[in-house]
Amino acid sequence: MDRRFGELSPPERLLMGPGPANVEPRVLRAMALPVVGYFDPFLFEVMEEIKELLRYVFRTRNELTLPVSGTGSAGMEAVIYNLVERGDEVVVGVNGFFGARMAEMVERAGGKAIGVKTSLGKPIAAEAVEEALKNSNAKLVALVHGETSTGVLQNLEKISRIVRSYGALLVVDAVTTLGGCELEVDKLGIDACYSCSQKCLSCPPGLAPITLSERAMEKIRERKSKVQSWYLDIGLIEKYWMGAERSYHHTPPVSMLYGLREGLRVVYEQGIERRWEQHRINSEALVAGLEAMNLELLVEKEHRLPPLIAVKIPDGIQDQAVRKQLINEYGIEIGGGLGELKGRIWRIGVMGVNAREKNIIYLLSSLEKVLAAEGYGVKLGKACEAASIFYNGLVHRQTT
Ligand SMILES: Cc1ncc(COP(=O)(O)O)c(C=O)c1O
Repeated sequence: MDRRFGELSPPERLLMGPGPANVEPRVLRAMALPVVGYFDPFLFEVMEEIKELLRYVFRTRNELTLPVSGTGSAGMEAVIYNLVERGDEVVVGVNGFFGARMAEMVERAGGKAIGVKTSLGKPIAAEAVEEALKNSNAKLVALVHGETSTGVLQNLEKISRIVRSYGALLVVDAVTTLGGCELEVDKLGIDACYSCSQKCLSCPPGLAPITLSERAMEKIRERKSKVQSWYLDIGLIEKYWMGAERSYHHTPPVSMLYGLREGLRVVYEQGIERRWEQHRINSEALVAGLEAMNLELLVEKEHRLPPLIAVKIPDGIQDQAVRKQLINEYGIEIGGGLGELKGRIWRIGVMGVNAREKNIIYLLSSLEKVLAAEGYGVKLGKACEAASIFYNGLVHRQTT
């Protein structure tokens, strides 16, 4: 017997990086259920439930709300390729790696990306978006709600009002925020929003939930040219996912759909507000621990993204050495910096099932030990103590 291709046995990991996060066990069980065909009435029922549950987590009544096959970037392409036509000007907030990716996609769609930039670690200013709208013919504004490359949470309220007043549509990347941060698609007047399955929803990577307002759908219906991507053409996808006819487009990833449905059911049972709160609390506990180690954070408190905290790597400490020890000795994955921030920050994720006290404490105690071994002056136990005091304070508040 050839021994090269043995049964897979992945290492046990605590995924506290920028995603994927660990998968909810209920999701994995759902994914092991028998696959049915793409015209099976059972699958249509599953799809209807997914649409309803997605409307619940996106906080929207948008009819067109469904998961696109593919990861978060497929959601980004689906939204941008369907909404942008050759020659269209689009205002794009670029304050990190993923804003830059959106701008790249706008250009690939034949549009002209008008980048509104700011320094890394800062949100996009509403005034700068207004200025860009005033000086262009843009009828689309695209922003990243949670910039995972820096850990910045973009406030959308004021910008959304401005976008509306210019008669433009608002596109929002919620890849890191759906299920992990307050996000109100309808209340904020967001016209197109996309996310992923593998972060705060605690499913494996492979699906990209999207939602499009009626205004966005009108723009898509009025297109003069065909969408460049056949696979991501919303008009075609819609014919399988919506309405009574259900014409075949592509074979849906059935097991992923089961998994997403279960992941969304978990959120529904918990309640979306409580889930946002769970992420906020555990993220604050993490920050309390990191600050007790005298580590500096990249983003100021008011703009911090709860599911992703960016920590500056202290002088004299080697990025790779720390991350390698964390994974090899403690089974913990954290992320490094992207692009300009490579080697300068660590990115610690607090996402989905991982947003729990026991994980935060384990991560802090492991990080303390690794940093001490690398020569960084920390007093062992301080970080966990600070996080524990934070958690105890919450219990105290709840019981008094
Ligand atoms: C904010 C943001 N947008 C888009 C993406 C792309 O998603 P994916 O890697 O699932 O294709 C990511 C991935 O981390 C992200 O964090």
